[in-house]
Amino acid sequence: MQERVTTFGFEVKGEDGAARLGALTTLRGVVRTPAFMPVGTVGTVKALYFDQVKQAGADIVLANTYHLMLRPGAERVARLGGLHTFIRWEGPILTDSGGFQVMSLSKIREVSEEGVRFASHIDGSRHMLTPERAVEIQCLLGSDIQMQLDECIELPAERKEAERAMELSLRWAERARAAFAERGAPGQALFGIVQGGVDPELRRRSAEALVGMDLRGYAVGGLAVGEGQEMMLRTLEGVLPFLPAEKPRYLMGVGSPSDLIKSVQRGVDMFDCVLPTRNGRHGLAFTWNGKVNLRNAMHAEDSAPLDPQSSCPAARDYSRAYLHHLVKSGEYLGAMLLSWVNTAFYQELMAAMRTAIAERRFASWAEETLARLDGEGS
Ligand code: GUN
Repeated sequence: MQERVTTFGFEVKGEDGAARLGALTTLRGVVRTPAFMPVGTVGTVKALYFDQVKQAGADIVLANTYHLMLRPGAERVARLGGLHTFIRWEGPILTDSGGFQVMSLSKIREVSEEGVRFASHIDGSRHMLTPERAVEIQCLLGSDIQMQLDECIELPAERKEAERAMELSLRWAERARAAFAERGAPGQALFGIVQGGVDPELRRRSAEALVGMDLRGYAVGGLAVGEGQEMMLRTLEGVLPFLPAEKPRYLMGVGSPSDLIKSVQRGVDMFDCVLPTRNGRHGLAFTWNGKVNLRNAMHAEDSAPLDPQSSCPAARDYSRAYLHHLVKSGEYLGAMLLSWVNTAFYQELMAAMRTAIAERRFASWAEETLARLDGEGS
């Protein structure tokens, strides 16, 4: 087979224990890893300008096949010049395949060997997502990293059910690989997704089969769906040794600052999660001293900012009293400022992790930081 010309690459630049410092190179720029990808589900990181997302330090954002295929439609985005042009974000974009969102958002759905047939959560219209169509949509969107279509089950689940979904996801990975080999543009990448619930043997089989397909990167899916942090970390520990050291590893849909630190410590390179923006919209701020609930009356006359040291103006220049007032009044600006605070905090956290790995002091940094993040909690 002829080697495709590509600029996609991944390099591990440093290690500290199992934690890795790296760089993922795409056509649209370099992603410093460990990386946190702000979630831009429908083509917007909610309540933020992309300039703020960039300034906060994000190298890459995530968007969703499921939402964009329903509205405004992948063909329409393609006619408008592709997703980067449409949303005005020049950096790399990773698109999720839709498998997970169908399961969590669409009440009417039917999984078969062919794919998943579902009713739109927007207007009830019927759609079919197959591994091939998911690749086609992601090609139309023009994302830099595509995810295979997979089936993510809810936990707890019977082993038989986890095995069925894992094996189906593997057959879908093979079909996605074939479709991508035909349609994918040079410089784009397709990642596989390890499934298998919390069963170490299923996870190992899933990882080994995907690695045999020689994909550009590997994600661990089906976690943070109710199993708890300890079980999630144990499952991760069982999977990561079967993934190749020279490829990026992405833990999907995770998580809290403590989830991120503990997962990086075990060798994860990439994350995405709605937590910073969703919590921001609900009046919760992440800070280096822990979570702050701005709804709390204790902030009503507090003229101090959330964090005078922060690089983010929203955390540094606005009083807690004003943020409290905005949140209590249900003002848009409250959601905007707190989404900004949290997006910036998550990027500061990733930058601090990268520095700690480079300086080979990750373990002590993690211990100190985890204790600190347990702090404020008000
Ligand atoms: N996002 C969070 N978890 C998952 C998963 O298991 N699969 C996909 N496709 N996306 C996810």
